[in-house]
Amino acid sequence: MNGIKLISTGSALPERVVTNHDLAKIVDTNDEWIVSRTGISSRRHCSGGETHAGLCLAAARQALERGGIAPEQIGVCIVATVSQDYFTPAAACLLQKELGLPEDTVCFDLNAACSGFVYGLHVAECLLAAAPRKYALVIGGEVLSRLMDFTDRSTCVLFGDGAGAALVEWGERFPSLHAVLGCRGNAEALNVPGIRTGLPSYVHMDGQTVFRFAVEALPHCAKEVADKAGIPLEQVDRFVFHQANQRIIDFAVKKLKVDPAKCTGNIARTGNTSAASVPLLLDELVTSGALASGQKALCVGFGAGLTWGGALLELA
Ligand code: COA
Repeated sequence: MNGIKLISTGSALPERVVTNHDLAKIVDTNDEWIVSRTGISSRRHCSGGETHAGLCLAAARQALERGGIAPEQIGVCIVATVSQDYFTPAAACLLQKELGLPEDTVCFDLNAACSGFVYGLHVAECLLAAAPRKYALVIGGEVLSRLMDFTDRSTCVLFGDGAGAALVEWGERFPSLHAVLGCRGNAEALNVPGIRTGLPSYVHMDGQTVFRFAVEALPHCAKEVADKAGIPLEQVDRFVFHQANQRIIDFAVKKLKVDPAKCTGNIARTGNTSAASVPLLLDELVTSGALASGQKALCVGFGAGLTWGGALLELA
């Protein structure tokens, strides 16, 4: 068996905190509705000179510094995102320049929406097996506030901005991620229109359809990863679930019959940050000591596509 281990993490959030009360001043909503239906109290929005690349760069730098790994040791750099600064070049190419990664580093962006970071982990695991250098940066970064219609109360209250980074190392005796990835193509449930449509690039969502998909996909994917790894769910140290809606997480915790204390999240402070959601939470768990060396985190993302992705990641 060979695979990857998590060496270190990093994160970056915009400075501006946007509370539910702030949103209630610009759209017909209120704190009580948002908290009771989603668990979200505030989220961060980029302002001034803050950019997607800037957030991803700060998170990646922190992960490199904490891991004690030099840019020259990186073989793969993947940014999972749907809200990068440019259609092209990829955010990962901007990081290659700013971080000083070697020119033969495999650098690209990956669009699997809220499953993107977990997709990225699996892709990094596969690529590193063939790469000359055995470290990868996998970053999830989003500036979703740019994709919001602030007259649509059913979407603009849900999403936030941020970036999380994971530095991973591939090794011949390291455990496999036992990744489970999937897709059920559906453009109606959740989309951001592209150039061809002539429509503004705002998030459009059928919330109830996505909710029904999520409460099925999240527990199913978590169980499949544990089955593939051949361990009971009780042996998982932490569950890092995509922070889309506290009600979806509560439903999954109940269905999986896992300890809620192992499933704590940060949605109240971040909102749904799509591809950044899992790595931002992972970073909080690692830096607080809630995920310790040798422990395993079962990460699950789900979202537009519709996609899902789960992986069992061990902290070195
Ligand atoms: N503030 C106040 N009222 C709101 C509101 C808001 N921000 N957004 C919607 N409402 C209203 C609706 O207009 C509707 O009013 P009506 O009954 O008068 O028509 C009412 O609240 C109920 O709307 P509904 O869409 O049925 O609410 P819901 O309980 O399904 O919750 C979501 C809406 C979006 C929170 C929920 O469907 C959800 O979380 N879906 C999954 C979304 C998700 O996770 N997406 C990302 C996946 S990665």
